[in-house]
Amino acid sequence: MSVEFESRKSVITPEGVFIIGTYDENGVPNAMNAAWGMQSEMGEITLMLGKHKTTENFEKTGAFTVAFGTVDTVVISDYFGVESGKNVNKIERAGCHTHPSAHVNAPIIEEYPLTLECRVKSWNAETGFLIGEIVASQADEAILTDGKVDLAKLRPVIFDAAICAYRTVGEVVGMAFKDGLALK
Ligand SMILES: Cc1cc2nc3c(=O)[nH]c(=O)nc-3n(C[C@H](O)[C@H](O)[C@H](O)COP(=O)(O)O)c2cc1C
Repeated sequence: MSVEFESRKSVITPEGVFIIGTYDENGVPNAMNAAWGMQSEMGEITLMLGKHKTTENFEKTGAFTVAFGTVDTVVISDYFGVESGKNVNKIERAGCHTHPSAHVNAPIIEEYPLTLECRVKSWNAETGFLIGEIVASQADEAILTDGKVDLAKLRPVIFDAAICAYRTVGEVVGMAFKDGLALK
């Protein structure tokens, strides 16, 4: 027997913990948390956003960064989602450190070990769809194994929409484009 949920209570899983970094017109860094996002092309990320300080910022700069929430950054990541840069300098309040990204006019937040540097490819303020071209990404050496991002070292978290929680990403349970071949 199955249980039916009304559409607004439907759970989509996994959802991400995307930390969007931007500068305002004075070069003040800001960060917000977004769960609604995904890869939409090779080298492209799409995020669904309401109106925020973040959107005001990238409307001016044409750029943003996306870092990934981790076990070590849960508290600051949640804070970036419950306070607005319109009220306070969240980066300072969170005790974070930033430097300009190498390729776009947006901050790298040093507390996060993996960050995408994105140029605004398209932004529709009516629908809230932001498409970013990923120009480059920066990873701390500490989260690499044989030159590849190692999720076991990164320890990313996902957003659990069923109970509004952050959860760890677990162990490898199969190999993609491979395990299914057994049934081909
Ligand atoms: C877990 C979580 C997920 C969120 N996901 C989104 C999202 O996908 N899109 C969105 O527009 N806002 C989302 N928010 C809300 C923004 O992060 C929040 O409004 C934030 O204060 C905006 O910051 P800013 O005004 O400094 O840009 C989320 C918040 C939390 C805590």
